[in-house]
Parts: sequence; structure tokens; C-alpha cells
Amino acid sequence: MVENKAFYLTTPIYYVNDAPHIGHAYTTVAGDVLTRWHRQRGEAVWFLTGTDEHGQKVLRSAEANGIDPQVWVDKLVAEEWLPVLQVIDVQNDDFIRTTESRHIERVQRFLTRLKDAGWIYEGTYQGPYCVGCEEFKLPADLIAGTDQYEGQECCPIHSKPVEIVDESNWFFKLSAFTEPLIDHYTKHPEAIRPQSAYNEVMSFIKQGLQDLSISRSTFSWGIDVPWDPQQVVYVWFDALLNYATAVGLDDEAGSEGAKKFGATWPADVHLVGKDILRFHAVIWPAMLMAGGLDLPRCVYAHGWLLVGGEKMSKSKLTGIAPSQIVDHFGYDVFGYYFLKAIQFGQDGSFSWEDLSARYTADLANGLGNLASRATAMVNKYCEGVLPKPAALSDKERALEALLQKTTTDADRHMLNLDFAEGINAIKEFIDAVNLYVTEREPWKVAKSPELTDDLHTILYTIIDCLRAIAILYYPVMPKSMANLWSQLGMPGNLADQTIEMASHWQSAPPGISVTKGEALFPRLEDE
Ligand code: ME8
Ligand code: MG
Repeated sequence: MVENKAFYLTTPIYYVNDAPHIGHAYTTVAGDVLTRWHRQRGEAVWFLTGTDEHGQKVLRSAEANGIDPQVWVDKLVAEEWLPVLQVIDVQNDDFIRTTESRHIERVQRFLTRLKDAGWIYEGTYQGPYCVGCEEFKLPADLIAGTDQYEGQECCPIHSKPVEIVDESNWFFKLSAFTEPLIDHYTKHPEAIRPQSAYNEVMSFIKQGLQDLSISRSTFSWGIDVPWDPQQVVYVWFDALLNYATAVGLDDEAGSEGAKKFGATWPADVHLVGKDILRFHAVIWPAMLMAGGLDLPRCVYAHGWLLVGGEKMSKSKLTGIAPSQIVDHFGYDVFGYYFLKAIQFGQDGSFSWEDLSARYTADLANGLGNLASRATAMVNKYCEGVLPKPAALSDKERALEALLQKTTTDADRHMLNLDFAEGINAIKEFIDAVNLYVTEREPWKVAKSPELTDDLHTILYTIIDCLRAIAILYYPVMPKSMANLWSQLGMPGNLADQTIEMASHWQSAPPGISVTKGEALFPRLEDE
């Protein structure tokens, strides 16, 4: 194993059949927060996201708009999918598009290698296909259509009729991997999370896997099968490979690509929605086994954002644009809200009322108010210069102990992708500091000149706690915490403070200039 392998995290590559909605942003932001957390621990990190541009779903959306597919995907990527990363302030290291030559060439090379190794053969496929899922379906998976689709068999996810595919195709010997996958997942129960996802995949594999058609001949929007250009590669076979092509899959030994691959592979976490769990936890590891490559350490399937009890979706036009949230609540609130309000791995319903209530309670009144009171008092009582603390009372000692616990708890939960608990641990620390301010009443202490030492201890303690909070919340709310860091007048870059440093009690240097800047989380007018 390569020393200092990066923590490698991926999001799904999203179909460019339309613009992104908050469901896509949810996965990307979860990945962003987790990779920022790892970076903040001082680890090397590689964070990949991108777009899935081939297949019938994308082709048909281009056709419906009367545009050539390449022109269509170029336009949507440039106008929607890249800009949304700015909207939600994502710090990805790379962005892969499946129409890029770096991807196409590596997919063709890998496919040829699998064929040469005997994993690919010619056959005929006959059966139902959902273009919405880009998936060959088993008759047992289908549901009866209603309303306009009465009498037709439909995809349970898209509620639209499936199509019957009947073609001569290339097949991948997926069935050969039934036992190897069962063995692998028996030895590595942590490789599919949460537990419900693990159970679902295991019972699916135990039914026995069937070989998979990995090419299509009835349309040409895709990667040519290298030895049979009448066929294009099945979009999922093409798409899954992005995680490896983006970091130099099968590049010549000693090349830049091979070095990158050695320093990133295997992926530590493939973050996906539960809709695409099986592709990632069954087909993908089988492809890797066939290619003799290491398997990802974990596929994590999170739940769905629901609208009216159903999955928010592009196809069903129930999407909310991320900018609608960011424009009103600011950049950072997106991750804070979705990761704290919904237990990661479970479904959750989005509501403006809930978002607004949590913003006001936790951010405007909780943290925002603490920061503005603290910086205002240092200005009022100490001319904006952070005083030296004097002797500590039990109340400061209690906060010191709580900060140690908060740092270890938050770290443990975040590493475990338990974002709600991780954020909550930090929020409880903020509540404790707010309570400390209320109990210590620095505005009263300030009235007695003989209590100056005490006043200095209190103000110092609050500012030092805010220093720790800025570090701990930086991966979740980078822009607001950078703002807080500069209001505190803390030396150094916030990005260079490790998570562990948050717990270093009394590390704010006395004498720094504390300014009362603009509100971190302004109170918002009701819309
Ligand atoms: O499936 N709630 O792309 P896609 C939560 N191209 N997450 C949601 C969501 C919702 N309502 N809607 C979408 C594809 N997502 C393939 C992936 S990967 C090799 C190829 C998120 O555009 C979630 O991560 O349909 C889901 O798995 C993904 O977007 C599906 O995006
Ligand atoms: Mg989808």
C-alpha cells in the first residue's frame, strides 16, 4: 500500500438530462463536509464529482430540446452543473465528464482487458428496461401503471412504463461473482452502509446474480465498444468506471496517471443515494474484481429528500434549485440544515418552515448571537483587545472539560458519517457557552472595578470557545466560520487549524484585536 494514500471520496456523477436540484446538492454537500473534515484533520484528500453524459436518458432529453447531444451536455454542464458547485460552495478536487477523452480512452482500454481475460461474451438480451433508471429490470421489480399508464408495467421509481429491449449485445459474466461478493461482504460488513443497505444488497446477491448486458446497439450516443463499433457501452458500465478513470485507471507504470492511481485507489467512500445502491455495491465491485483491482472500502447509501412523500426528482419536475435556498439563507446553511435535520441514511422531507425555524434558533439566535455579544463586549469593556484570563472558576473548568469531549465526540461522529450527531455535539457546546454567558453575567461584573480579573477571564473564555467553534464548524460552514475567525482577530489561517487544535484550551493569544463585524447569520424577514 502506498504511504499517505489520500482519503478518496466520490459522489455519483449526475445525469445531465436537466438542471440539478437540492437532492443532488445534498449528496455533494455531504461529500464536501466529510472531505473538508478529513482535510481539517491534516489528511491528504481527493474529492471527485462530475457528470454522467451518455445513454438514452440524456440522449432523449437532448432530442426533446431539438439539440445535438454533445451540444446539449456541454451547455448544461457549463450553465448548470459547474455553477451549482459555486452556489453550494463545494471544494472538489476534480470534476469528471464521461464525454472527456481521458474517460473514454480508459474505459475502452479496461473493457478490452476484461474481454481478453474472458469476462465478456456475445449474447442476446430480451427484457424490460427503464430509461429513467437506465436499468434492465426483472419482471418482479415492476408495478402496475395507473392513470395514463393504466394496464402497462411501470418502473417503481419513475412510475413510467418500461420498454422492452430485444437486441444482440455483449455480456459481462456477473454471475461468476456471486460467491466472491458474498465472501467479500461477509468479511467486510463495513463495506456497505448503513446496515439496512448492507442487508438489502446481501439478500439480493444471495439470490444469485445474472450476467449483465453491457452494450446497446439501437442508438449511438455512448462510448464505442472498441472491438465492435456497432455497439456502444451500456451507460452504467461506462459511468461506474469514472471513479477509476478520473484517477488514472490502468495507466502505464511510472506515468503521472499511475502515480495518481496509487495515491488514491481504492476509494474510501462512494457516496450515493439509495436509488443506485445495487449498481455500486454489486456491479461495480464485480467489475473491479474482474479487472484485478482493489475494492472500495465503503459504499454509503443515503436516503432521499422527499416532496409530498415521494423522491424529489428531475424526471417528475419536483426539484427545488439549490440557489433558492442559498439566495435566502446564505451559502453555509445548506449543509448545516440538511445534515443536521436528516439522519444520514434515512429519508427526510424538506420544508421551508423547518429550515427557517432551525436557522433562526440555532444560527441567528444561537451561534450568531453568541458571537455578536462576545465581540461587542470585548469592544465595550476592553477596547477591542482580547484580555488575559486570570484564575479559573469551576464554570470555566466545566467548559474546558466539555470542549475536550465535544472535539472527540464530533470527530468520531463525523468520521462515521453521522453528521447529525457530529453537528449536534458542536451545537450543544454552543448552548453551554451561551448558558455560561447568562450565568456569569459579564455586563454586571463589568460594573465593579475590583472584579476586572473576573471580567477578563469571562471575556477571554467566551472568545477562546468561539475560536474552537470556528475550527469545528469550518468544514460545515466554511464562509461564516472564516468570517468569525477574522472577527476574532485570530492569527493564522483557519484552514491550517486541525480539528485536534480546537480542543487546545486557552490557545487564543491575549492581545489580539477583536472586531464586531457584520452579523454571521442575520435575522431574516419572513417571506
Ligand atoms: O443516478 N434525494 O444520476 P442522477 C436525495 N448518473 N438524493 C438525491 C435525490 C433525492 N431526491 N435525487 C437525486 C444517476 N439525488 C447516475 C449515477 S454514478 C456512477 C451514476 C442524488 O442524476 C443521489 O445521490 O439520477 C442519487 O443517487 C443521485 O443524485 C442520482 O443522480
Ligand atoms: Mg436518477
